[in-house]
Amino acid sequence: MAAELDSGQFLALLKRRRSRREFTRQDIDQPKIERALQAAMRAASGANAQPWLYVLIERGTLRDSIREHCERADEDFHKRSPPWLKQFFADHQITPVKQFTETAPLLVAVFGKRDFPFWLQSVWLSIANFINALEVEGLHSLTYTPSLDKQFNKLIGVDESYSCQALLPVGIGNPEEELQPRPRKPLSESVKVLGSDGKLREFEPTLPFEP
Ligand SMILES: Cc1cc2nc3c(=O)[nH]c(=O)nc-3n(C[C@H](O)[C@H](O)[C@H](O)COP(=O)(O)O)c2cc1C
Repeated sequence: MAAELDSGQFLALLKRRRSRREFTRQDIDQPKIERALQAAMRAASGANAQPWLYVLIERGTLRDSIREHCERADEDFHKRSPPWLKQFFADHQITPVKQFTETAPLLVAVFGKRDFPFWLQSVWLSIANFINALEVEGLHSLTYTPSLDKQFNKLIGVDESYSCQALLPVGIGNPEEELQPRPRKPLSESVKVLGSDGKLREFEPTLPFEP
């Protein structure tokens, strides 16, 4: 039987995973992506409806049109963003230019079937499994969420009852990419306890936590 991850290894894996925005053109082995997809399928979902559809987009002629769609959608989104988000984009050098849509060996479009209960929550749980499983396989990804309309469905050939939730470049990240720190808030900030006295109080962590 394969060795199982212990809790420390699992936490280290989650900490190691980073969004990557620059990809090499290096191809990826099918078993790696297949295992990550198996992990995605294992997600919990409302009524076990599994309302997701993963479309693996290989490099080819459609990539240019996809890039155009994404960049147009992102330009609009950046223009409409509130000042704090504009600042986040500026601080983290996130621009509407989507080079990775061209370079990554795979672009994975994740759709949700809108007519199932809790479809949105379920799709996102599945994406979480997917990106963490990619990390186990030594692959990198970006959870990229352009606001894509039905024209995108048409371009890809996917029924309009599905909504594209994320487009993830998957491959080997450029080792030269400079990753900005993305510290996590401590548990004391994001966790509360509702005590047996009915009062909400601070959670007091006992374990070390590296942001
Ligand atoms: C729901 C969601 C939407 C996101 N959308 C985008 C996006 O459109 N463009 C982008 O560059 N990063 C996007 N990200 C990546 C986040 O910026 C990133 O996960 C966050 O800054 C933490 O960094 P890390 O993933 O490297 O730990 C998204 C992440 C999530 C979970």
